[in-house]
Amino acid sequence: MGQDAFMGPFTPTFCDLQWKIHVLLLGISSALKLTVPSHTIHGTEGLPLNLLVDYNFNITVSDIQIIWLFEKPPTTPKYLLTAVNESVVPDLEYKHKFTLLPPNASLLIKPLHLSDEGNYIVKINIHGNGTISASEKIQVTVDVPVTKPVIYTEPSFGVVEYMGNITLNCTVGKGTRVVYQWMKNGKPIEANTNYSSSANKNILSIVPVVKEAIGNYSCLATNPVSAMESDVIRPTIYYGPYGLTVNSDKAQKVGKVFTVDKGEAVQLYCSADSNPPTIYSWSRTADNSTHPIKYGRYLEVASEKVSLKTEEYKCRAYNNLTGKGEEIHFFVIVMPRGLEQLAQKGKYLSPLAIITGISLFLIVSMCLLVLWKRFPLHKVIQQKLHSRPETDYRKAQTISGHENALDDFGIYEFVAFPDPAGISRVSSRSVSDSDVVQGQDLNGTIYEVIQHIPEQH
Ligand SMILES: *[C@@H]1O[C@H](CO)[C@@H](O)[C@H](O)[C@H]1NC(C)=O
Ligand SMILES: *[C@@H]1O[C@H](CO)[C@@H](O)[C@H](O)[C@H]1NC(C)=O
Ligand SMILES: *[C@@H]1O[C@H](CO)[C@@H](O)[C@H](O)[C@H]1NC(C)=O
Ligand SMILES: *[C@@H]1O[C@H](CO)[C@@H](O)[C@H](O)[C@H]1NC(C)=O
Ligand SMILES: *[C@@H]1O[C@H](CO)[C@@H](O)[C@H](O)[C@H]1NC(C)=O
Ligand SMILES: *[C@@H]1O[C@H](CO)[C@@H](O)[C@H](O)[C@H]1NC(C)=O
Ligand SMILES: *[C@@H]1O[C@H](CO)[C@@H](O)[C@H](O)[C@H]1NC(C)=O
Ligand SMILES: *[C@@H]1O[C@H](CO)[C@@H](O)[C@H](O)[C@H]1NC(C)=O
Ligand SMILES: *[C@@H]1O[C@H](CO)[C@@H](O)[C@H](O)[C@H]1NC(C)=O
Ligand SMILES: *[C@@H]1O[C@H](CO)[C@@H](O)[C@H](O)[C@H]1NC(C)=O
Ligand SMILES: *[C@@H]1O[C@H](CO)[C@@H](O)[C@H](O)[C@H]1NC(C)=O
Repeated sequence: MGQDAFMGPFTPTFCDLQWKIHVLLLGISSALKLTVPSHTIHGTEGLPLNLLVDYNFNITVSDIQIIWLFEKPPTTPKYLLTAVNESVVPDLEYKHKFTLLPPNASLLIKPLHLSDEGNYIVKINIHGNGTISASEKIQVTVDVPVTKPVIYTEPSFGVVEYMGNITLNCTVGKGTRVVYQWMKNGKPIEANTNYSSSANKNILSIVPVVKEAIGNYSCLATNPVSAMESDVIRPTIYYGPYGLTVNSDKAQKVGKVFTVDKGEAVQLYCSADSNPPTIYSWSRTADNSTHPIKYGRYLEVASEKVSLKTEEYKCRAYNNLTGKGEEIHFFVIVMPRGLEQLAQKGKYLSPLAIITGISLFLIVSMCLLVLWKRFPLHKVIQQKLHSRPETDYRKAQTISGHENALDDFGIYEFVAFPDPAGISRVSSRSVSDSDVVQGQDLNGTIYEVIQHIPEQH
């Protein structure tokens, strides 16, 4: 049949009939319109609840009948009240509980109780030129609002990092259908390796306890009619010391070395991240033995008292609750005032120093070149190389792993040509060419590099 209906264009008479039926049905259904704003309503225990219903019709009617029923699924529906025109006839059992003001079909439930939870069915019959009826079902839930939750911490005292667990127990005095959500620093906590929660999430376990777990924890308890957040709690976690450093007010610090101007007194201070705060102790190391100086975060060093030019010190941080300690060694150097200033200036002169260095290097290179040319040392080396067996080179090649090592091998020679016109190119591939231009006066203007390869037999 359905398929036939879709094939309408091919059977015009049948289609026409379908259309007429459709129009008729539409006319009847729209003659009485019954609407409810919501099919599910969350009620609060102890407060009145109005089940809003709206209806309208555009036909002339003589009687309007409104019926309310209550249904709690396993049990059979109960009759609550009925109204015809302006007169209401309640079920005497619920006489004071429900109020209806016809023709308004909305039902007022005066004090809502947990037992009022269920489905409320409204049926409207209008009687005129025939009877038309419509009905709707509204699901009502009833909840007790939650009270402010309280967090119990277990243990109530602090926990040492990696050595214990923290359990937070969120409880509400009153409330039905409570859903718990844990927050850390105002953001919801997702369950992960460090946080686990019970089935209904009122218990949060922090395992393992790490420094990163420190924060402001709160618990949010919600149900369909209310939401309350607990006060923030901050579990005590003992950790550290971590990241021990030593610094100074005046002394310059480079790596582990503090530079103190002669005649000046400087203050050194240690800092480490730790809870509870660490106990700092200072000592001086000399001749492989340690001499304790003092306890406390600060150490005054007067340069006059530094017996040697350089002294080694040690700062130790100890946390007596975690039982962990860390120490740091450093040196104090006393520097004459002028020297330090020079060192300071050195920073700005550095480009000049580089130029000077390069110049010096070039001059030395030139001198070496002259020497090389004056004394035929290379010839001696060359002869020695000649006498070396080929296997030596092969060995060198395999060890180096550089495939062309043999190609690169040779004696490199710098040749200076006195006059550009007099340059005669020499083959660099034959040993016989290894006789060299020597003992000439050098203008040092043109050079050529010659590679000599020892002959392979
Ligand atoms: C009532 O209104 C609907 C549209 O909402 C219309 O289709 C129908 O014909 C009307 N009936 C009467 C009797 O006016
Ligand atoms: C309802 O009111 C109409 C007129 O508004 C009247 O004709 C009808 O008889 C009344 N029905 C009852 C049950 O009182
Ligand atoms: C029915 O009464 C309620 C209050 O009891 C009101 O909010 C609602 O607008 C009324 N509905 C109609 C159709 O007058
Ligand atoms: C009553 O119904 C008849 C047919 O069922 C129709 O002819 C007539 O117009 C209707 N009267 C009113 C007032 O709706
Ligand atoms: C911490 O929790 C783990 C796993 O839940 C458990 O094995 C361990 O015994 C607990 N430690 C303490 C100190 O409660
Ligand atoms: C959480 O706290 C409540 C109230 O103090 C207590 O009844 C409950 O046993 C606690 N739960 C756990 C797992 O400790
Ligand atoms: C935790 O709360 C304290 C005061 O209650 C506040 O000073 C601190 O900034 C908070 N920390 C974070 C990470 O929100
Ligand atoms: C989770 O625990 C591990 C150590 O088990 C730690 O390195 C990590 O920082 C912890 N993460 C958080 C978010 O606390
Ligand atoms: C310091 O101790 C090391 C080994 O502990 C030793 O080799 C060295 O000779 C000692 N130096 C002095 C000055 O005692
Ligand atoms: C840890 O040191 C503090 C002083 O910094 C002291 O008051 C405390 O008693 C010490 N605790 C333990 C367990 O030794
Ligand atoms: C360069 O060398 C040639 C030949 O040795 C010499 O005649 C000439 O004077 C030299 N030039 C200079 C500037 O020394």
